[in-house]
Amino acid sequence: MKQSALDIDVEFRNVVKTFGTITAVDKVNFQIPKGSFYSFLGPSGCGKTSSLRLIGGFEQPDSGEILIAGESVAYIPPYQRHVNMVFQHYALFPHMDVASNVGYGLRQQRPRISPDEISKQVKDALALVRLSGYEKRRSWELSGGQQQRVALARALVNKPTVLLLDEPLAALDRKLRKDMQVELKTLQREVGITFVFVTHDQEEALSMSDRIAVMRDGKIVQEGSPTDLYRQPLDRYVAGFIGQSNFISGEVVEAGDQVKIKTQRAVILQAPKSKVAKTLAVGDKAVVAIRPERINLRNQNEAGSDGFAGKVAQITFLGDQTEYHVETEQVGRLLVRMNSGYAGYASGDPVIVYWNQDAGLALLDD
Ligand SMILES: Nc1ncnc2c1ncn2[C@@H]1O[C@H](COP(=O)(O)OP(=O)(O)OP(=O)(O)O)[C@@H](O)[C@H]1O
Ligand SMILES: [Mg+2]
Repeated sequence: MKQSALDIDVEFRNVVKTFGTITAVDKVNFQIPKGSFYSFLGPSGCGKTSSLRLIGGFEQPDSGEILIAGESVAYIPPYQRHVNMVFQHYALFPHMDVASNVGYGLRQQRPRISPDEISKQVKDALALVRLSGYEKRRSWELSGGQQQRVALARALVNKPTVLLLDEPLAALDRKLRKDMQVELKTLQREVGITFVFVTHDQEEALSMSDRIAVMRDGKIVQEGSPTDLYRQPLDRYVAGFIGQSNFISGEVVEAGDQVKIKTQRAVILQAPKSKVAKTLAVGDKAVVAIRPERINLRNQNEAGSDGFAGKVAQITFLGDQTEYHVETEQVGRLLVRMNSGYAGYASGDPVIVYWNQDAGLALLDD
């Protein structure tokens, strides 16, 4: 479906940003739909923060065009863009209490907003982040998660069209992070503004986003919904970044919608080609990617003709699920994830690993 310009809040057209010899953002194109939760995902240094800073107007592109709500923002300074940013290393003003921190942006506005109106809006913003009653607290009297929520309220109070969030949960412990992920997502739905979120944590991106742009070396490698990216990754890089995968590498010996790959051990594996991937040609280096939850185990004495013999090398109990690292002669070491209820194998057990042909995906190696 082609979206009209009105449905797009932020757009990059061939945007390039260099710092000296480094190209931080390399001919990037994307469109962020209005009211969506959009994430940039990628490893450290791939250009996530730079992309956000370009949207916010804290950096200027070398070339290309940036549009917010359909208008080019080339000469519009940060404070005139309807955009607010929660920075990677958020900091509250330590000499101010929570209410003063949150009201900061409102106090800068001209014409002036009355103090009563400011306290009302601060109160509303604190209610949104579930910190009603915390107005008089100082930053050192707050937990990490509470400080994070104050930083959010401080941005939300300005009622931006677009909220830019640069790894806002990175400093939090796992449990709090999980809670905040749910809260952020709920908040985004409530206020209905566009969230542009940056993270290097794939689980975080998968669970919160409507759409994800996977970045590498200043470029967007693939963009899509979490399920698209998980089920139909473009290549090995995306498959490895979004969720976990086993990769069995080899060379294409038969191309088409079904691809045959000859592994280093001369085993022939067949798998469908990823729908979005470039064509694989005979002779190309390729991998069969298989998610750990798509692989099954059985005892070597159980009936069945398919599969590869191996030995359980290591077991990781994860609560509801159990992970088995299985060492095989023919296809190397594989990670298998099973519901703990079904999993009764011990370290050293001889097993057969097997999967449906359509559980694998043939992808270009890189
Ligand atoms: N002001 C700057 N001066 C010089 N180089 C910069 C500057 N800002 C960013 N870079 C470089 O640009 C590249 C992209 O940086 P960026 O901060 O966008 O990465 P990132 O994806 O946000 O990484 P991280 O996950 O570590 O925050 C990096 O190589 C970085 O060193
Ligand atoms: Mg960054």
